[in-house]
Amino acid sequence: MTTSNRVPTAELHLHIEGTLEPELILDLAARNGITLPHPTLAELRAQYEFTDLQSFLDLYYANMAVLVTEADFADMTRAYLHRAAAAGVRHAEIMIDPQAHLSRGVPLATSVGGVAAALAESESRFGITTGLIAAFLRDESEESALAVLEELLAMDAPIIGIGLDSAEVGNPPSKFVRLYNRARAAGLRLVAHAGEEGPPAYVWDTLDLLGAERIDHGIRSVEDAALVRRLAEEQVPLTVCPLSNVRLRAVDTLDGHPLPRMLAAGLNVCVNSDDPAYFGGYVDDNFTALRTTFGFDAETVRTLAGNSIRSSFAADARKAELLEELDAWQG
Ligand code: HPA
Ligand code: ZN
Repeated sequence: MTTSNRVPTAELHLHIEGTLEPELILDLAARNGITLPHPTLAELRAQYEFTDLQSFLDLYYANMAVLVTEADFADMTRAYLHRAAAAGVRHAEIMIDPQAHLSRGVPLATSVGGVAAALAESESRFGITTGLIAAFLRDESEESALAVLEELLAMDAPIIGIGLDSAEVGNPPSKFVRLYNRARAAGLRLVAHAGEEGPPAYVWDTLDLLGAERIDHGIRSVEDAALVRRLAEEQVPLTVCPLSNVRLRAVDTLDGHPLPRMLAAGLNVCVNSDDPAYFGGYVDDNFTALRTTFGFDAETVRTLAGNSIRSSFAADARKAELLEELDAWQG
């Protein structure tokens, strides 16, 4: 695939804080007078070897220390949109972790406001339509999540939905039933991470107890044949992140990734970058790695991109426009 011929796609699984590139971390640290534990690019880059989800989360949260002002959040978001446009992204639904900033003393108005300011210019500047999803940290309490959700609703934050992320194992979906009921009552869309490191039972419960409309990751679903049948029947969208799964050792190597099996089982899977600054690539890099490893042809890539567009929360007219663009894509 050449740079000029990226498949037009929607990115549905993207943590904005995970787009903070090492160079930008150092720039923002200098701008804000912050001394980092790993103050040079070489030292910082040496930290990007992960053994599991938690080892990544430790660095991901530590690096957020450089995000202080609204301009910091806006600059990070613009940098992502600029790179995503080059990757072929035409619609992006972006998660933010408001609690991770609040706990450092950064108000919601600063974090959400900064990201939202950049998103407001996204369509005209980058040709990318967007939606913002407030993700809640599942290793924090449900009370904390509910309080933050109420604050977001009270300030009329420009969010389209909620998500659930951070350390999965030991923090099952059953912990957040009231949160999802409240968000549903407020008219918000519902997504949640499940089946990244957690068992297939977490995917069942994310559907049945939380009523999630999309599952982020969901790769461990392949361990449960009855779950696979249900996901296929209901065409539940699964936002798969292949390079993330390799870097966090959810799979040993890309060639052992379940994506081809998920496609063969008729699941509604799409390709996303998750935390591209940490996992070795943006959505185009994920597609390139899949094509190289599995020999996916243009029709398979078109199927994956089509799934992402149809599974998005974009307006019907925007979906139609993007599907037409995808149809005309030459591969
Ligand atoms: N999984 C869970 N939580 C996260 C991730 C992830 O891949 N990225 C940022 N928070
Ligand atoms: Zn994620």
